[in-house]
Amino acid sequence: MSNLVIYRKYRPKTFSEVIGQEHVIRTITNAIKENMVSHGYLFAGPHGTGKTTLARLLAKALNCQQRKDGQFEPCNQCDSCLEINQGNAIDLIEIDAASNRGIDEIRELKEGIRFRPAKSKYKVFILDEAHQLSKDAANALLKTLEEPPSHAVFILATTESHKMIPTILSRCQTFDFRKLQMPEIIARLETILKQEKISYEPEVVKLIASQASGAMRDAESLLDEVVSFTGQNGKIALKEVQILLGLSDRGAIFQFINFLKDKKAKEAIEFIDQSIHKAVDPKEFIRAVIQHLREFLLLKIDIQLQSPIVLSLTSEEKKQFIDLAGGFTEQQIKAMLEKFMEAENKMRTATILQLPLELAIVEICLGK
Ligand SMILES: Nc1ncnc2c1ncn2[C@@H]1O[C@H](COP(=O)(O)OP(=O)(O)OP(=O)(O)O)[C@@H](O)[C@H]1O
Ligand SMILES: [Mg+2]
Ligand SMILES: [Zn+2]
Repeated sequence: MSNLVIYRKYRPKTFSEVIGQEHVIRTITNAIKENMVSHGYLFAGPHGTGKTTLARLLAKALNCQQRKDGQFEPCNQCDSCLEINQGNAIDLIEIDAASNRGIDEIRELKEGIRFRPAKSKYKVFILDEAHQLSKDAANALLKTLEEPPSHAVFILATTESHKMIPTILSRCQTFDFRKLQMPEIIARLETILKQEKISYEPEVVKLIASQASGAMRDAESLLDEVVSFTGQNGKIALKEVQILLGLSDRGAIFQFINFLKDKKAKEAIEFIDQSIHKAVDPKEFIRAVIQHLREFLLLKIDIQLQSPIVLSLTSEEKKQFIDLAGGFTEQQIKAMLEKFMEAENKMRTATILQLPLELAIVEICLGK
């Protein structure tokens, strides 16, 4: 793989490559096709879901020299497209409000905006983390948004739209970005791995996607780590990714829960002792047990459960998981969860870290 990090290398260069955010894409591409572009946009939503990506795509499409009327995709070949892809287009001005919070930047922006674009049709301003602008700067920006010159397009991006001042919101067409879904992330990861000619066990992408909490950037960064950890030759194995992520060994958790099912307090406590000797962090362990029990409970309600844990299990593990869940009643699972959550709480102040865990085991196995 080239030394470009994946999330930069795979930033979509066309609208068709963007996953999710269909509602945003539909409205924006229609506006481009029909030449009905607004002067102020607000892209609001969680990090790593495509705000900057779509802002640059919009800028690229607007200034593309080869795009015909009725089309919306940028050509990615003309000078303007190439300059935007390389990050050196003079008519695309990106300002990070997190580091340029001040009135000076906005004043400069206001001065700059009066001049026509140097070589393109539009001057596009992307203002990232717009909620972080200082009050004065936001007011100065507002003035500009009230009477923008016809050649200017503002795209404000924010992860916290509730912190934006309402008068700015009212001047912008707002788009709400959503977290991406597991299947969307999985599909994109598979495309990337295929293009990089890297082979992998199928559960690997599911596990990575399950850790990304809806952000494509997080999934891609994680994939980067995984690839450099496992090397680029050979196959990426699920085991290795589990180790990298510091996930407790599932087999161990299954075995532990099995002891509880059979009310084998002695074995369960010995098991924990041995785990701690092997440098397993009791806090991590209890957290993993709670997560698994929670999924047992959800599985009882819906056997088709498509949760992150279930999706990242191998088919062998899935069978074990379902069998094990079947060994408990809902009441029992609920009682165990309560005990372990209590133990997790007590661990914060316990002098012997594993003691709350041992007490929970005893109580569960004695059926109290
Ligand atoms: N919807 C998406 N489709 C495809 N790739 C995406 C998408 N969203 C994010 N990515 C990937 O993640 C990277 C970062 O996305 P982007 O910069 O657009 O996120 P953002 O929403 O602006 O996040 P932040 O709030 O942190 O600025 C992109 O370069 C791309 O590789
Ligand atoms: Mg961004
Ligand atoms: Zn072009």
